[in-house]
Amino acid sequence: MRLDKLLSNMGYGSRKEVKQLLKMKAVTVDGEVAKDVSKHVDPVKQNVSVLGERVHYQEFIYLMMHKPPGVISATEDLHDQTVIDLLDPFHAHFEPFPVGRLDKDTEGLLLITNDGGLTHNLLSPKKHVPKVYYAKIDGEVTEADIEAFSRGVMLEDGYMTKPGELVILNAGPTSEIELTISEGKFHQVKRMFESVGKKVTYLKRLSMGSLQLDEQLELGEYRELTEEELNSLKS
Ligand code: URA
Repeated sequence: MRLDKLLSNMGYGSRKEVKQLLKMKAVTVDGEVAKDVSKHVDPVKQNVSVLGERVHYQEFIYLMMHKPPGVISATEDLHDQTVIDLLDPFHAHFEPFPVGRLDKDTEGLLLITNDGGLTHNLLSPKKHVPKVYYAKIDGEVTEADIEAFSRGVMLEDGYMTKPGELVILNAGPTSEIELTISEGKFHQVKRMFESVGKKVTYLKRLSMGSLQLDEQLELGEYRELTEEELNSLKS
């Protein structure tokens, strides 16, 4: 990989700025001052350093965000703030994207990465990756709803959902539930409740596969996945 691409990718500035760094003799490759930005380097095998500090090359990033309401799960939008707008420039320059979508008003776990392979695996309908949601429902959720969801319900467009596991945490005029589904149809949780005549008034994703929302993250905050989280997500 070209030296300027590596340094630029790792957040050392634009290609022009990287050129300046080389002019300042700030960059070394295996201890030798680098002079040519187009020099090809192997960032794993070779020691590339800037001002004496080794550059650790990373191709992919994996971020867990506690998505806040009011922000959309997209990379860009003309009107609304996106989850990518919440990233700092270092993470944004990896050009990551959200893995699947949460509605604008939905909160909770959102994985953001630039790893297309992992994204494909997590979103592929064949993999049946379970997603757990917490929701507040306007209306009393009943055993009949648990039954209906366990068989799958028909959405308003005629689509029959796969079975979902509904747990009632609190039943009353406003109910609280947890629902596990293995699909990701548009507005799926909201539409499943609509199919039994109820309305979701608050929705939060708690987990996706083995990845659980870190409740230490405030709304809008994010962090890199730990190695353990990443390995279990990949396995
Ligand atoms: N189901 C929904 O209805 N909305 C979401 O954001 C996610 C799942």
